[in-house]
Amino acid sequence: MSLIKEQDYGTPARPGEPSVSVEIDGKRVLVPEGTSVMRAAAECGIDIPKLCATDNLEPFGSCRLCLVDIDGRKGSPASCTTPVAEGMKVRTQTPELAQLRRGVMELYISDHPLDCLTCPANGDCELQDMAGVVGLREVRYGFEGENHLDLPTDSTNPYFDFDASKCIACSRCVRACGEVQGTFALTIEGRGFESKVAAGAGGTFMESDCVSCGACVQACPTSTLQERSVVELGMPTRSVITTCAYCGVGCSFKAELRGDEVVRMVPYKDGKANEGHSCVKGRFAFGYASHPDRQLKPMLRERITEPWREVEWEEAIGYVGRRMMEIQARHGAGAIGGISSSRCTNEEVYVVQKMVRAAFGNNNVDTCARVCHSPTGYGLKQTYGTSAGTQDFKSVDKADVILIIGANPTDAHPVFGSRIKRRLRQGAKLIVADPRRIDLVRSPHVQAEHHLPVRPGTNVALINAMSHVVVTEGLVDREFVDERCEDFAEWERFISAPEHSPEAVESITGIPAAELRAATRLYAGARNATIMYGLGVTEHSQGSTMVMGMANLAMATGNIGREGVGVNPLRGQNNVQGSCDMGSFPHELPGYRHISDDVVRGTFETLWGRVLHPEPGLRIPNMFDAAIDGTFMGLFVQGEDIVQSDPNTKHVTAALSAMDLVVVQDLFLNETSKYAHVFLPGTSFLEKNGTFTNAERRINRVRPVMAPRTGKHEWEIVCEIAQAMGYPMKYDDSAQIMDEIAMTTPTFSGVSFAKLDQVGSVQWPCNDAAPEGTPIMHIDGFVRGKGRFVMTDYVPTQERSTRKFPLILTTGRILSQYNVGAQTRRTGNTAWHPEDLLEMHPHDAEVRGIRDGDTVALASRVGETSLRVKIAERMPVGVVYTTFHHPVTGANVVTTENSDWATNCPEYKVTAVQVSLKHPAPVSAPAPVK
Ligand code: SF4
Ligand code: SF4
Ligand code: SF4
Ligand code: FES
Repeated sequence: MSLIKEQDYGTPARPGEPSVSVEIDGKRVLVPEGTSVMRAAAECGIDIPKLCATDNLEPFGSCRLCLVDIDGRKGSPASCTTPVAEGMKVRTQTPELAQLRRGVMELYISDHPLDCLTCPANGDCELQDMAGVVGLREVRYGFEGENHLDLPTDSTNPYFDFDASKCIACSRCVRACGEVQGTFALTIEGRGFESKVAAGAGGTFMESDCVSCGACVQACPTSTLQERSVVELGMPTRSVITTCAYCGVGCSFKAELRGDEVVRMVPYKDGKANEGHSCVKGRFAFGYASHPDRQLKPMLRERITEPWREVEWEEAIGYVGRRMMEIQARHGAGAIGGISSSRCTNEEVYVVQKMVRAAFGNNNVDTCARVCHSPTGYGLKQTYGTSAGTQDFKSVDKADVILIIGANPTDAHPVFGSRIKRRLRQGAKLIVADPRRIDLVRSPHVQAEHHLPVRPGTNVALINAMSHVVVTEGLVDREFVDERCEDFAEWERFISAPEHSPEAVESITGIPAAELRAATRLYAGARNATIMYGLGVTEHSQGSTMVMGMANLAMATGNIGREGVGVNPLRGQNNVQGSCDMGSFPHELPGYRHISDDVVRGTFETLWGRVLHPEPGLRIPNMFDAAIDGTFMGLFVQGEDIVQSDPNTKHVTAALSAMDLVVVQDLFLNETSKYAHVFLPGTSFLEKNGTFTNAERRINRVRPVMAPRTGKHEWEIVCEIAQAMGYPMKYDDSAQIMDEIAMTTPTFSGVSFAKLDQVGSVQWPCNDAAPEGTPIMHIDGFVRGKGRFVMTDYVPTQERSTRKFPLILTTGRILSQYNVGAQTRRTGNTAWHPEDLLEMHPHDAEVRGIRDGDTVALASRVGETSLRVKIAERMPVGVVYTTFHHPVTGANVVTTENSDWATNCPEYKVTAVQVSLKHPAPVSAPAPVK
């Protein structure tokens, strides 16, 4: 397989139908209005030389290499900045143009190191290519005069270098950082000959606001900005299109390899979720897959106090099957279960729930989505009839108002965060409801109209107050509600009650009533308003209520069923949506169909050849409780470090310690494997063959770039365990598993690997009614028929601040790290976040005698841990914040077992804590990094 090179059309596509006819070098082409001459030429197969233009950036017109002649126009205009006009006649090749272009190139080359043969970009350098294209053979000017050849290289970024001596000041990097990424970390300093690229205020990349997304590296036409992996390993020679294994944005990448080694990950332009962009994790943090910590052989031990013993697959799988059956013989069929992983593929997850239901003979299967987005599934199903977001990411390009609640997209969903910023720069308005002043509230060229710093645990009071304003101020979309919804009248009575008014809840939410009213008017008055939300909504005792509250608000204002509107969960892990779709919950078969439904169950019983239990099984917290009670004794955990990620660590470890058999399947030995008897090595995304489903219901292919380093695919291991337990479960390959999913799950019936390979990706439902998939849901009607208004009483959480625990802890993620950090901690990303920090408002710190960098004790009623403090103005008084990326901190030691009333999703976002000084930072200690 060779290296996949996408065509660069030079300037972005313009919207609209092709309507303008032009003739270029005798060829006629029809393009939309506003298209550049350069792009029109490219579309009819004529490549005009260029350096400063590339098709994901607006044209800039600085290099003057793309000059053309146009009939009736004076001089030779730049084709990148000249839009087409009806009847235009263009010539791209004349002796005069050739002469002009050679002259331009000569100037560039005369100030460029002539080390092409040893340059890491040799063969992948546009400057080199263009020198060839314009036929430059010799340079008349020497290097004696003033030049930039001695400028230093900035190697502060862990992944790429900036060799200023090779820079041609084309500004592509500067524009990529602004237009694509939205960070604006780079500028061109100076004028004329003095022009040079500067990061931040002229410091290094690491000192600047750079978030290491790599857009500038990708945009650079020379090797000025160059991945260090290319320098070290050489230019890649082949590529495979696959999907990022980090967050729920689901970016498509070209994994570019040399031999079997991944040289770099290049965001794929045709990837519909990311359109050629990426963040630091997806682009650079893939080294964990070849980290020496990877455990590649299965391991066993009888007791967790014994050392591990490496064994062959056969012994490990045989042991798991035998022990699981022994436990069932002793304690009953329901004494074992499994947890599937949102980091694994749909196919890998599907076989886990099948193993539990068909081979274990119970429904004790749950997924890590339990602890993040289970309220999304519940809330949206109750109101709209589908357990998923309503829009595609692209839809936000049509939003006039964006309401972000409990999400921090620039850190947790960075590529979508960049898309939101772009829309905001185009003029959309932003409302942020979050206790913290997240970056989107104010960043370069972005300023939220309203920041509603809602007190943790009071979201439902906030959303009810917004709906109250809509109903009482005459902002309801009556036509939409009358035609499309039910139970409105009752809900209207409920929500109009004075106790839901912004004035009444001001003392609960902490949000001034006037601000809340103004924000609501902005949302309700917009032509298109959309809601984006994250775990700050779901990880609460009223997570499900809040999801339904947002659904009510969107329906009442008619913001459902077209582009630019909707209610959209931003999913944390890469395959949260998929793991839920695949029937990982104890009460639901694939496609969110209840296990008690005889017809649905019958379909699976016929296909699987087993009678399935009609009662829902145990959820994760129930499994832990039952283990402590001695009735649940065997657990299979797929790719999830529950000790680190689940709340109340002490309770989790007590449960695992009580079990007779804990089987962990993962890449690395982790905190959970300390309590395991069997370790089954898993595969990284580079070895997997399957699909992930992202936050917009998009099913993306995950293609292997190498064979499993462990010798077995994860789905094979699960099948073999089922077989060892006497249940015949076998597939030739993962495509066959997807075929079974399609056969049994109506929303997936049109999905196959062949289809995905043909069209790139599809959004479910993908079936006969929607063969190309469904980007926008609920267009003509809700999936459940009518959208249902649901009463959403605000019930305060039991977790309150007290004299003993006067602060509220809320937890979350930061950009460079991912979840429990198992992957990102084993990459260069630790340069940005080597430890979890406790963010604290200066006032809360001062009254406790705490300074930046001090080590503090963080205690709740269930546990205590210690970590360093970062004083942060963005925190509100009374609220502290930390991440859970490092096991040494063990943030979940302090989180409680409080959970969402409907789904048991833990209340990670509200823990009453006290913070006290433990060790002052040494005077010379560095202040905590961001
Ligand atoms: S890596 Fe991204 S954020 Fe950093 S300078 Fe380049 S484009 Fe800007
Ligand atoms: S670093 Fe690269 S992209 Fe940026 S101005 Fe220099 S040559 Fe152009
Ligand atoms: S935004 Fe998410 S999916 Fe995209 S590259 Fe970053 S981590 Fe990967
Ligand atoms: S490519 Fe048109 S001026 Fe540089």
